[in-house]
Amino acid sequence: MECLGAILASVVAETCRGLCSGAQTTMFRSNTKTLDRELERLKKMQSKVKENLNILGNQEKSLKPKLMIWLRKVEENVSIGEMILEKRSSCAILVSDKSVAVLEEMKRLEEQGHELLIETSVVESSTERVELVLGPSFHPQTKAKEILDKIKDSLRKKNVQKIGVWGMGGVGKTTLVRTLNNELLKKAATQQFALVAWVTVSKDFDLKKIQMAIAMRMGITFTIEEREDIGKAIHNRLAKLRSFLLILDDVWKPIDLDSLGIPSASEGFTDFKVVLTSRRLEVCQQMMTDENIKVGCLQEKEAWELFCHNAGELANSDEVKHLAKDVSRECGGLPLAIITIGRTLRGKRQVEVWKHALNMLKSSAPSMDTEEKIFGTLKLSYDFLQDKTKDCFLFCALFPEDFSIKVTELIMHWIVEGFLDEQQPYEDLMNEGVTLVDRLKDSCLLEEGDSDDTVKMHDVVRDFAIWIMSPPNEGCHSRLPDHVVECVETSVLLLQKNSRLKEVPHGFLQAFPNLRILDLNGVRIRTLPDSVLNLHNLRSLVLRNCKSLRNLPSLESLVKLQILDLHESAIKELPRGFEALISLRYILLSNTHQLQSIPAGTFLGLSSLEVLDMSGSGYRWGFKGQEREGQATLEEVTCLPHLQFLAIKLLHVLSFSYEFNSLIKRLRTFQLLFSPILLASPHATGKGCLAISDVNLSEASIGWLLVHVTSLCLMHSEGLNAMFKNLVTKSKISFVAVKSLSLHQCPNLSFSGGYKAKLDLFPNLEELSLVNVNLKSVGELNDFLGLRFEKLKLLHVFDCRQLKNLFSYKTLAGSLRNLEEIKVESCRILEELFKFPSTPVRVSTESLLPNLRIVEVPEDDLDWLIDVPPSRWGLAHAPPPPFP
Ligand SMILES: *[C@@H]1O[C@H](CO)[C@@H](O)[C@H](O)[C@H]1NC(C)=O
Ligand SMILES: *[C@@H]1O[C@H](CO)[C@@H](O)[C@H](O)[C@H]1NC(C)=O
Ligand SMILES: *[C@@H]1O[C@H](CO)[C@@H](O)[C@H](O)[C@H]1NC(C)=O
Repeated sequence: MECLGAILASVVAETCRGLCSGAQTTMFRSNTKTLDRELERLKKMQSKVKENLNILGNQEKSLKPKLMIWLRKVEENVSIGEMILEKRSSCAILVSDKSVAVLEEMKRLEEQGHELLIETSVVESSTERVELVLGPSFHPQTKAKEILDKIKDSLRKKNVQKIGVWGMGGVGKTTLVRTLNNELLKKAATQQFALVAWVTVSKDFDLKKIQMAIAMRMGITFTIEEREDIGKAIHNRLAKLRSFLLILDDVWKPIDLDSLGIPSASEGFTDFKVVLTSRRLEVCQQMMTDENIKVGCLQEKEAWELFCHNAGELANSDEVKHLAKDVSRECGGLPLAIITIGRTLRGKRQVEVWKHALNMLKSSAPSMDTEEKIFGTLKLSYDFLQDKTKDCFLFCALFPEDFSIKVTELIMHWIVEGFLDEQQPYEDLMNEGVTLVDRLKDSCLLEEGDSDDTVKMHDVVRDFAIWIMSPPNEGCHSRLPDHVVECVETSVLLLQKNSRLKEVPHGFLQAFPNLRILDLNGVRIRTLPDSVLNLHNLRSLVLRNCKSLRNLPSLESLVKLQILDLHESAIKELPRGFEALISLRYILLSNTHQLQSIPAGTFLGLSSLEVLDMSGSGYRWGFKGQEREGQATLEEVTCLPHLQFLAIKLLHVLSFSYEFNSLIKRLRTFQLLFSPILLASPHATGKGCLAISDVNLSEASIGWLLVHVTSLCLMHSEGLNAMFKNLVTKSKISFVAVKSLSLHQCPNLSFSGGYKAKLDLFPNLEELSLVNVNLKSVGELNDFLGLRFEKLKLLHVFDCRQLKNLFSYKTLAGSLRNLEEIKVESCRILEELFKFPSTPVRVSTESLLPNLRIVEVPEDDLDWLIDVPPSRWGLAHAPPPPFP
């Protein structure tokens, strides 16, 4: 051991001596990265083991010495690793067999650490013990805090496994257990549970769904056999833990914990606990809870505090206070009511408004019980909304209970429902929609959803919205009835994600003659019934992700349709009557791989079209005179006056000439792919994407187009030399828009063109990706295209078999100041990253590549790097440094 220590010390000294004095040149090797990464991993492991050491249960006390010994070893090794890295980054990098020894030590230690973690029974190292649950935060009321403490006490009792938390809707049960969860998170390392899992159950619960949520939380995937009995698989994994807490929120019916897979106290798992919330005590009792804790309404004093907290200072002012107190009292101690009313009246200065509010609350059916009373208070908040916002709010209740609604999708629905002024351009509509969402959130009628950019409705608020709208909407799951009482009023039908639904019966749609939105996202239908033709008012038809959808009936009478979303459906041709859809603004045909036919003339009359997204579609657009017989040509599209977004695949690059310039100029975003073979272009992000593959480009002149292109990708194409020569010699301008250039699979491209570029063809290039190109040095692109790489941030070189180095010192010293990331893979004869001149130069890393953060060479190439003799490390020509 001492011996290794001595070796390591000498490595450090050597590295230092070799690099920090005398002639300084630079070299980056992946080892630093590998060492760095390993060090990080080990440190993470270290802190986890430390955590476990602190909370070892009584049974595991014997493990303590083992953990301590491991920790000591890690500490020593880590500090040596850090020392090496520190020396390296402050001057330069060398690779040594000896530093590889450190690496190996660290890897071994990491493995041992992993075993220790399993012994001390912590779940997969990647899952955190407690996860944040989003939602409105909890105003610290004494009462709620008392209840929370009570739950926490019960969790510590040996003989209590299941705790029921019950009380009426809106009383704050979810907030309470969410706070419990998030407080445990704050003390993740020291709290009593090895894993805490949160599952929202809701009214239509499904054992499988709960199981999947638990499985996901544990980061486990199932083998095929295990899928037969997920409960058993969950049981087996959970049984390895020393303790576990499951929080089940909003339970309506008893859940069988055994079939769920939760190990029970009778099997000896006394540290496995369940906390559930329900509106009904009965449910708790049926689940055999050991303790039931009631969450009741607030006392008057507390209710008043909460009210003031939400209504602001004004509630306490002399003019308003007496009214405000009455308003608060009318809320019946229900936190949800108090908060919403408080927020609604916040900032309202006129006494009349307060008087009105009080009257409204008092008049709402005195005989109602508290649960109904909350509707009265919500109604008041609702009445304070503008009409437009009211509609927007009610719309949200059409989504299933506890459903996180994507904000952009919600706004699209509002637009076609006509809640927002349709005349405005798309971007303004979006901005207005976001503002409305914010307003609804401010008044607590909407809350944050489960993921970013989503919102959802409190279940009580949703009940209220449904109560306001009648008739209520029933959820549909696996079958829709053929005969339905006609619902003339219904304008929206959201059936999305009902993946078991296979058919929409003819008679069913007939019941909704005034439908404006029909959303069948992800439903397994093969077609739609002809009765869809009767939906004369339909604005939005969403058939996104209907992967079995092959045919559609004629749509010719849907003249008001604005959105048609067929993304990733299996259609082979456009529906009949498509050309009659004159109101269409957005057509989404992306990933319709099987779409082969679009009859000529289809687009001529669609003058409202703003978005035509056919990225990844099977249809290839031709040009007049070269089209497949009877098929639509690109000339049709150029006539559309409002088109802003166009993503298509085209047949002939040579025919795409300057006559399309006005179209390209007009578009805000375009993605063009020219390829007889590829289905989708591999790089298509950014405002102007041009990808060309498997085409002979020798006679193509694309200069006019490159003026608008931000991302250029050339793949597997012939004639590139001729095309580039043309560009370089004839072009008087640089293509300043281009930020990303990819040259892939162009082994026949030759860089000794016999000419020298005078100006930098792509002066703003930020990303360069080279795959299977016959370069000897990336620097050759300097002569070839005039590239000076002054803005280059990211360089990716893959499978370039002639590549000897990336850049010469000349380029390095000249212009790579913005380079941040280098990735090199499978370049077999690469000798060095940077080539230095034979006469020694005196520079430091920082001054050459001040922004370089990442150098990645895969671990497979590591052996190769170590084998290269030091004379080829790029330090080759530096004189031996003087010994200090
Ligand atoms: C590094 O860890 C190993 C155990 O894998 C240990 O034997 C060795 O003593 C440690 N190195 C130092 C310098 O502490
Ligand atoms: C590409 O086209 C040019 C001109 O049309 C032709 O001379 C050349 O042979 C073609 N290259 C290949 C590989 O087909
Ligand atoms: C490169 O040229 C060779 C010979 O001319 C030809 O066979 C091959 O298909 C070309 N490769 C590509 C990718 O075009």
